[in-house]
Amino acid sequence: MIYFGADYYPEHWDEDRWKTDIQLMAQAGFNVVRLAEFAWSVLEPEDNVFDFDWLDRIIDLLGQKGIKVVLGTPSAAMPPWIQQAIPDVMLVDANGVSRGYGSRRDYSPTNDVYIGYAVRIARKMAEHYANNPNIIGWQIDNELGDRCYAPSTKRQFQQWLQEKYGTLDALNQCWGTRFWSHVYQEWSQIPVPLMTATGPHNPGLHLDFYRFISDVYVDFQQKQIDVIRSIVPEYHFITHNLMGFAYPNINYFDFSKDLDFISWDNYPRGFWITDDEIDPTVPAISHTLMRSLKKKNFWVMEQQSGHGSWTIMPPIPRPGEIELWAYQAIAHGASGIVFFRWRTARFGAEQFWHGILDHDGVGRRRYAEVVNVGKTIKRIQPYLEDAQTNAQVAILFSYDSSFAFEIQPNNPDLSYRNHVHSYYRALHKVGIDVDFVAPDEDFSNYKLVIVPALYVTTPETVQHLTSFVERGGIVIVTTRSGVKNIDNAVVDSPLPGLLQDLCGVQVDEYDSPLTGQNYAVEFTEEVSSSLISDGGAEAASIWCDVLQTLSAKPIAYYTENYYAGTPVITLNSVGQGKVIYVGTIGNQALVQSLVSYGLQLANLKSVLCVPSGVEVTSRWQGDQQILFVLNHNLNPECIELDSEYLDLVTCQNYVDQVDINPKQVLVLKRVGT
Ligand code: GLA
Repeated sequence: MIYFGADYYPEHWDEDRWKTDIQLMAQAGFNVVRLAEFAWSVLEPEDNVFDFDWLDRIIDLLGQKGIKVVLGTPSAAMPPWIQQAIPDVMLVDANGVSRGYGSRRDYSPTNDVYIGYAVRIARKMAEHYANNPNIIGWQIDNELGDRCYAPSTKRQFQQWLQEKYGTLDALNQCWGTRFWSHVYQEWSQIPVPLMTATGPHNPGLHLDFYRFISDVYVDFQQKQIDVIRSIVPEYHFITHNLMGFAYPNINYFDFSKDLDFISWDNYPRGFWITDDEIDPTVPAISHTLMRSLKKKNFWVMEQQSGHGSWTIMPPIPRPGEIELWAYQAIAHGASGIVFFRWRTARFGAEQFWHGILDHDGVGRRRYAEVVNVGKTIKRIQPYLEDAQTNAQVAILFSYDSSFAFEIQPNNPDLSYRNHVHSYYRALHKVGIDVDFVAPDEDFSNYKLVIVPALYVTTPETVQHLTSFVERGGIVIVTTRSGVKNIDNAVVDSPLPGLLQDLCGVQVDEYDSPLTGQNYAVEFTEEVSSSLISDGGAEAASIWCDVLQTLSAKPIAYYTENYYAGTPVITLNSVGQGKVIYVGTIGNQALVQSLVSYGLQLANLKSVLCVPSGVEVTSRWQGDQQILFVLNHNLNPECIELDSEYLDLVTCQNYVDQVDINPKQVLVLKRVGT
């Protein structure tokens, strides 16, 4: 079953409107809504005084129309009486400033009194709704993760360190605290990395702090999970609405472990968008990471359905985009699409964050799109029941490396996420499904593993990679891998450190080019004849290793700068497999060529060759492949087919080729299978 619905805030509207809302929802084919996520002050208007009557009534009305409910625990929005009751409840930022009350997610996640209140309301809700047949699951809080530097955070950080290191000697050793005279003699001397007078913090301390904050939120969430799970029936799920690939503050692999499945919030035209053309790989990479966290289908708990902004408004979703984004999510494994929000708020901070209905309660073009996509989803869902993505390529994604690069970017243009994204984009362009894997995960089932800038490297990951390659796997490792140990100290061996044997190269020195300095790269004749390039000139940029080959052989050379004529990309044979080392961040043309080479070595290619801007993904129901083809372009495209297909959306058969309109989606099933 695909769940389809909206985030609904009935407490924002007069009760006599509810029936009209539910009627319109039923007409749109909704089978789920999310409720109560920020409703604390109406659920518990006074300390320990609870009012579930209004929520009971709306759940009952929804139930009469067959619409199920996901309940949000309301701890993301603190009622004024709690703020008054706990003097030091507010989140403290990295400048040491205690943030003002008046928004949401403004509590300190290390404040035990606040946590007590949050767990109590979660328990009360669980007790009240455990046996309500219309409730199917729970969402904990909302988009957790803001970093806090409050005194309570500092105390808990010190405890966390004590548990991790055991002795101060061990901590001092790992962090190298002799530097700038920071040898700690008492746990209570250790600071949180507040803004200093003159320079950066110790990178070991800083990385541990980011790990600690991530753990704080894992625990914060766990306390609510535990209390709810101890009360509700087993078939109630528990999830959280994460923030996709871009969100840097939480190690989402850790955070997902005890959730039944992942949900995330998808705003392709959210208020941070400056370009009118939406890059389809931006939502796609988040869908992929969210699915990969548990290697399981996921929900979009907030799917954009109108202008996405608070005070100024970016362009509204273009005609067709609401449908296209919903299908894109399903193409990547979504089994729930919940639009944010049902009706646009007339008051409050989000008056301009539009929903499906406008302020006046009328559903116009955007409602029509939602209705349309809902109808089709209902029809195609039997083909998608439990359908999985079977990726044969993995990208290794390391939150430790992400935290460490955030602390020390190395080069102002080096963004770990952009670098990972460039490899994802190259695979997306040629229609290859991919999973993300954590550094400690088993990746023996893949054929090609891409390891972009694995800055913080552990012996275990190297061991995994080595046995994967020995058994015939293909690996691409890129520059700035193997630089740091687990304590965020630079390794005391030649780079790429622990990965040197696997890659068969040594980094003799490295250059950190200025913005815009691109140095042309030339592949060897043997390799270049087999590359599928995107037509652009391949160039090194942002980081340039000067390499000495050991067991590896060069496959591309720099042609400019003082390192012209030295290798930039190498190939090493290890056991039955091969390792490509890429000594630069490079431009997209370079990454595209490299990915085509890696795919060739791994013997992988896409089912369909599609023009740029057309996305192809597959979902598998056992042996039955369902192909999604999505045209993100503003012009029609023609797709060559390798056999006869039935399009489940239009119910038409196509042979040889099919024309696809702008924003159109095909859901193809091979005829005869
Ligand atoms: C987030 C939140 C929602 C809503 C939207 C729009 O994704 O989860 O509650 O506030 O942003 O701001």
